[in-house]
Amino acid sequence: MTDMHLSDAIRYVGTDDTDIDLFESQYPVPNGVSYNSYVILDEKVAVMDTVDRRRTGEWLEKLEAVLAGRKPDYLVIQHLEPDHAGSIGALAERYPDMELVASAKAVQMLPKFYPACPNPTRAVKEGDTLALGRHSLTFVMAPMVHWPEVMVSYESAEKVLFSADGFGTFGAIAKDRLWIEEAGRYYFNIVGKYGAQVQALLKKAAGLDIAAIAPLHGPVLREDLGFYLGKYDQWSRYEPEEKDAVLVAHASIHGNTARAAAMLAEILESRGAKVKTADLCRCDQAEAVADAFRCGKAVFLSSTYDGGLFPPMEHFLLHLRDKTWRSRTVALVENGSWAPAAACRMRTILEGMRDIALFDEVHTIQGAVKEADRAALEKLADELLAK
Ligand code: FEO
Repeated sequence: MTDMHLSDAIRYVGTDDTDIDLFESQYPVPNGVSYNSYVILDEKVAVMDTVDRRRTGEWLEKLEAVLAGRKPDYLVIQHLEPDHAGSIGALAERYPDMELVASAKAVQMLPKFYPACPNPTRAVKEGDTLALGRHSLTFVMAPMVHWPEVMVSYESAEKVLFSADGFGTFGAIAKDRLWIEEAGRYYFNIVGKYGAQVQALLKKAAGLDIAAIAPLHGPVLREDLGFYLGKYDQWSRYEPEEKDAVLVAHASIHGNTARAAAMLAEILESRGAKVKTADLCRCDQAEAVADAFRCGKAVFLSSTYDGGLFPPMEHFLLHLRDKTWRSRTVALVENGSWAPAAACRMRTILEGMRDIALFDEVHTIQGAVKEADRAALEKLADELLAK
């Protein structure tokens, strides 16, 4: 299993959560998630973030074992979202003299979650340092990665970047999965909206000598850091991982639109294209969102429903819009037995996104898929692959 301890002085006290049903009440996490927290033991003791209240008891036990009777001087709060800040109250109650160190925005927001917290607070700004002894933390503001109060912390003695949500991933530590397996689904759905802010943070990180990245979810990253930094650079610039790959995503009521999607995927693959497919009525839409970011091209096929767009497709496209999906080539296929209307609504949503090259021509299926539809889908595939 991944060793999460950075050293004898920087200890991991985070917890796994493998029985949560949905992260943020929306994302399936079949392999769980970890809430990472660390302790720096030096002349002064700093606790780096807390954990979700779902794991407060377990976290406090691990923390007390590492503290071995010492009291924390500081709790560094990098991010106030409850999956990390949910146990601040429990720790503050146990150590009322412990100073809470956070960005000015976090200090301002803290009473919204803990209106009666008695502990002293210290608001830090860009470049401020906190000397612990041999170890020293320098604070780097990272607003909107992924809330406005976020900061990251650089520990200079061991060259550790505590990166808050950045470089996090789904998956419990005990599941021992590779970072890349769920890092994309995590990034695009949690942080994907904030590409410009991630770029700003990457520029600051480029000036640091980093030996390890310690995020708030998932494994500590120690080797081949260029790979992880490169992924974040590519993702936050909204560049597809594969510009010629095609996402074929469909929402089908009775299976006819699904048959058209399968036919289109087969045609594309027969022409050598790499294709990812998504049945938006049944799949994990968070994975489909990630695939939409990974692919340079997409075809959306949807049934008409109640004179508009079938809700699973509407939900998906609105999610893409909210995550600022952009700079892709898109074609549309609709199905409508008497008054097809799905493409019109899909077009309206897509036209609200930035830099989407949307095919003017829409193919309309009326009920079952027929031979004439195959010819139209072949033409669509050829035109899409020629882009
Ligand atoms: Fe893992 Fe934005 O919280």
